[in-house]
Amino acid sequence: MKPNRQKHLLRLLAPALIPTLLCVAPASALKREDPDARAARVEAQMTDAERMSLLVGVMPIPIPGLKADFPPGVPPTAGYVPGVPRLGVPPQLATDAGLGVGNPNLARPDDVATAMPSGLALASSFDTALAARVGATVAREARAKGFNVLLAGGMNLARDPRNGRNFEYLGEDPLLAGTLAGHSIKAIQAQGVVSTIKHFALNGQETLRFYADSVIKEAPLRESELLAFQIGIEIGQPGSVMCAYNLVNGHKACGNDFLLNQVLKRDWGYKGWVMSDWGAVSAGEFINAGLDQQAGSQLDRQVWFGKPLQALVDAGTVSKARVSDAVRRMLRSFYALGIEAPYTPQPIDYKANAQVALEAARAGLVLLKNEGSLLPLDKSALAGKGILVVGANADFGVLSGGGSSQVFPSSGRPRFASGDVTDPSTTFTRQVFMPGAPLAALKAALPDAKFRFNSGYSPDTAAAYAAHADLVVVFATKWEGEAFDSGSLALPQGQDELIAKLAAANRNVVVVLQTGNPVTMPWLRDVRAVLQAWYPGQEGAQAMAEALTGAINPSGRLPVSFPQSLAQWPRAALPGMGLVERTPVKVSYDEGADAGYRWFAKTGLTPLFPFGHGLGYTRFEHSAATVRHDKGMVELGLTVSNAGALAGADVPQAYLVARNGEKLQRLVGFQKVMLEPGQRQTVSLRVDSRLLADYRNDKGHEGWIVPAGTYTFAFGKSAAELGTPVEVKLPAQRLKP
Ligand code: BGC
Repeated sequence: MKPNRQKHLLRLLAPALIPTLLCVAPASALKREDPDARAARVEAQMTDAERMSLLVGVMPIPIPGLKADFPPGVPPTAGYVPGVPRLGVPPQLATDAGLGVGNPNLARPDDVATAMPSGLALASSFDTALAARVGATVAREARAKGFNVLLAGGMNLARDPRNGRNFEYLGEDPLLAGTLAGHSIKAIQAQGVVSTIKHFALNGQETLRFYADSVIKEAPLRESELLAFQIGIEIGQPGSVMCAYNLVNGHKACGNDFLLNQVLKRDWGYKGWVMSDWGAVSAGEFINAGLDQQAGSQLDRQVWFGKPLQALVDAGTVSKARVSDAVRRMLRSFYALGIEAPYTPQPIDYKANAQVALEAARAGLVLLKNEGSLLPLDKSALAGKGILVVGANADFGVLSGGGSSQVFPSSGRPRFASGDVTDPSTTFTRQVFMPGAPLAALKAALPDAKFRFNSGYSPDTAAAYAAHADLVVVFATKWEGEAFDSGSLALPQGQDELIAKLAAANRNVVVVLQTGNPVTMPWLRDVRAVLQAWYPGQEGAQAMAEALTGAINPSGRLPVSFPQSLAQWPRAALPGMGLVERTPVKVSYDEGADAGYRWFAKTGLTPLFPFGHGLGYTRFEHSAATVRHDKGMVELGLTVSNAGALAGADVPQAYLVARNGEKLQRLVGFQKVMLEPGQRQTVSLRVDSRLLADYRNDKGHEGWIVPAGTYTFAFGKSAAELGTPVEVKLPAQRLKP
């Protein structure tokens, strides 16, 4: 091309190229540009309409009766926000979530994903590296399916064992939940996928979740749920925080100035954006309280952000600066992770990812009871012996939790049970059993035993078979899910009665529980062994059979306390249970930060199984506990030895048990240690000073105060099985909120 013609062409193309050159072309230079500076620069070039378009998302699936605008070609998923192509801003394509890539109502009919074990199973591993591997695997699948936002990081503290969504979360302790969530989020985002952390905050029950007001004083709130989020955000740096459906101290969480503006953005200096939960917004003014984006907007009464928000800006109710800030927060989260353009679908190695699901399923199994070392089942001793396997779906698969976190597994067609088949929201109303039958896995592990299967629908028939068996393995299930809670801690559909009858007929009963929460086990004394499997994901059957037969050594520890009955719990009745829809209800967390095992420590009550409990097939010894401090930073040490004959993992747990002689209990550190027989290892744990402190919001001081004095720590095998205490004198410390 002649130089003159080239110049002419350039002049012609220049206006069109400028934005591209500014925003897309010099990728290497832009990589170096600070994400905040770049977000500000790009945001400044936007029109008001473009800004508004980023602040409102839809759920791009047809929902009967609800209108939503989205262009053709957007894959059906949880969330869509259009991009700004002229400025190189890609659309936001969001998917659920932490237990695998979701597929709401199977709207992508043939799309499957690796179904990981539930959050409580992951939390039972007490393993931060595993949390990272699971997070990275889910994120890689999400990215390979074209998604750039993962609605993961679910971590509301389990404050009530009836909460239908506890299975998605990471247990009752702020350090455990925050640390695991943080490592998972960090690993997700390392794959170039934005992660949320959710649901901010105190989304402690599903009953009347849009109308429930979680009431708690500021100090205990900061010391419990908010500390968990704070730790998770510090470690994971999530691009987005999803605010919750419920109210907190009288204000909707997504329009809550205290939570969003004061705590999250001011005190914690959070730089990402706050997206609403789907249907959690009830006014455009929520933006002034710190909400940055109305997501899943067709589930709200109306679209509040977008055009109506522009009207509020024009009227001066909302400042232009606030709108710019909301947009910049979003852009900076994308730029910080290098998300430059839509992701194109890539092939997925489901076989390899299933190995991660298997590893997580193994690590999440908690052996609660093993009387007379009945487990592991011995292959040669059981040759020719009769084993009765009982359980409604044990010949097919394993149960999963319901709701938006539901995953349709890569391992084959699931089985749907019950539910309202006319309801389009299948994931919320039907039990989904993942293929992979516990019965088949047990048969494969014990090839010379004589198996018989019974569904258990007739407890008397099952008991009659049990009387003639050498061993009974019963797989009991309790389905839990989003949008509903349990009224009690009993196993449903007569399973408690079934197990009692089996135990009356046979001395050797092993119970395997697939539940999303603690259950009460009225038959506990009469059975020999109990394995808590939670919802173990698509590879769960194999993992359970391996644990029962000793191919693996179970090492899970309870991330929640199991009460003997609800009479031991701060609230005997679940607030709002039984009330009609849309009834406002107060959920008073009068126990403050003393929830879960802290409640048991405070009241002196004995739980059915304590937080941190879990058995295995070897024996660990703890010795040489030490404590020292350097300028108030506490470091604890312990020697852990495997004194048994099998390799296995232990989880030494460090608890603060007294301050200046006053008894209390707080988990201040934990570490998973893998040891060969005879091997020993010294663990050393640095303590986050906030776990030693009280939160104060007095006039004189706003923040954490570590009182001077004597601090007593003990390493435990659980919250209720503590070793020799060690003491240290600490100077007073003040820390920022
Ligand atoms: C849930 C969120 C989820 C969202 C999108 C809501 O019902 O509370 O956890 O991410 O739906 O599916």
